[in-house]
Amino acid sequence: MTETIVILDFGSQYTQLISRRIRELGVYSEIIPFQTPAATIKDMNARGIILSGSPYSVYQRGAPKPDKDVFSLGLPVLGICYGMQYITQSMGGIVQRSKQREYGRAEIELSCESPLFKDMCADARHTVWMSHSDRIEKIPEGFTVVASSANSPVAAFQHAEKPIFGLQFHPEVSHTVEGMRILGNFINVCAITQKWNLGEFIDTAVRGIRDTVGKDRVIGAISGGVDSTVASVLTQRAVGNRLKLLFIDNGLLREHESGEVMAAFKAMHLTVTRIDASAVFLGRLRGVTDPEKKRKIIGKTFIDVFEKHVSGKNFTWLLQGTLYPDVIESTSHVGPSQTIKSHHNVGGLPARMRLKILEPLRLLFKDEVRSIGGLLGVPRTILSRQPFPGPGLSIRILGDVNRQRIDILKKADAIVRSEIEHASLSDTLWQYFAVLLPVRTVGIMGDERTYEHVVAIRAVNSTDAMTADWSRLPYEVMDRLASRIISEVVGVNRVVYDISSKPPSTIEWE
Ligand code: XMP
Repeated sequence: MTETIVILDFGSQYTQLISRRIRELGVYSEIIPFQTPAATIKDMNARGIILSGSPYSVYQRGAPKPDKDVFSLGLPVLGICYGMQYITQSMGGIVQRSKQREYGRAEIELSCESPLFKDMCADARHTVWMSHSDRIEKIPEGFTVVASSANSPVAAFQHAEKPIFGLQFHPEVSHTVEGMRILGNFINVCAITQKWNLGEFIDTAVRGIRDTVGKDRVIGAISGGVDSTVASVLTQRAVGNRLKLLFIDNGLLREHESGEVMAAFKAMHLTVTRIDASAVFLGRLRGVTDPEKKRKIIGKTFIDVFEKHVSGKNFTWLLQGTLYPDVIESTSHVGPSQTIKSHHNVGGLPARMRLKILEPLRLLFKDEVRSIGGLLGVPRTILSRQPFPGPGLSIRILGDVNRQRIDILKKADAIVRSEIEHASLSDTLWQYFAVLLPVRTVGIMGDERTYEHVVAIRAVNSTDAMTADWSRLPYEVMDRLASRIISEVVGVNRVVYDISSKPPSTIEWE
């Protein structure tokens, strides 16, 4: 088993970030529920333990507490924020509510004698990110303070003999300028010898899929997105042609998308059956204008079509491109990520289909999936694809969805994509697309008065779609977009640009 740094999740919004940072430093890390027994942690080949932050205060009723034996494993422990406060309280120190919540950047002075701050002596002060309302009034016996700020006299501590450390600030947040160095120093204390290597992950995953699936047959649905594609390539390596793939064309894909996806899969030697189900989807969407109803109809229709083509065909496994953040969110027992989400387009398959779920990417973050895709030879066109919603163009056609309106949007959207790509802007943008509005406006073309559709252009910058800023596209690009759409797309006489950010707006219009 790979040497691992385990992160006990007390529900902080930053827990995932800690895990990503550790992996970026080349070491495998896993997030586990805070109450995981110490014996299980030992069995995971853990080399170090990080106690995450939490929305709770240690003295609150119901505050999450780990198995007390985690300190007896003899492993290095790093408590971050709540994690540090828990160490304090459980070892006889005192934590109290601070008069003033400390949120934002702070300057600390540190002792570079501490192994946690090795090679950080050059500067007297260091900028870190604080986010806490409790503070440590008295440190436990055997500990010494190794960093302090104006507001937090105990910004970091360590035990005199045991490898137990605490940080009041968040090293995983990029505003902590030398956060990666601090985490790297903790990794050094853990004496890890194995590198987290994605090439090796591929070999292990292929063997794992083979062992799990045995001689059974696997069915998967692909969308042309990164996750389902990488999951398919990996599974095909493991089970060859016992993997069958379906590409359900709902008639709501972008211009030429269906053909491009099929061609890309052919180039990767994956056998995919394309099902043209556009008539069923569009039939069920006729007259529906409410966005949530559109989503529900599309989800249900997808399942119906999938079941029709799979039932009675002797498949045992359903392949899904579930990623680590989804797994963490569904297993978290505390904090903001407590609610269990149903994320997947085929997540609601009826139990009567009796398919077992195969999730080869369930331990990976998105950037790792992209890297693995690159190693597996997945074309760049798929790896760098912008996110595209499951309900497709239906939620970008405000109002009634029909073939004529889909055609208009497809043409306008193709122009947006080609001009943005032509201007070499695609790598800098999170998403860029066209939206068809349910209004008409007056225009003049030649000598004729026109009364036609309006297209809105949406282009945003974002890192995770949770927040987004409207993109400041160069005027020349906007100008070309508008002139091309109006002159080339019959039925459109006006183009507008969306200058709203998320929040309070959303990226999609519906
Ligand atoms: P919003 O509009 O909520 O979008 O700011 C955030 C991200 O999610 C995508 N999105 C969806 N993806 N099914 C999906 O698979 C959906 O119903 C859906 N709605 C929005 C959106 O494209 C953006 O990347």
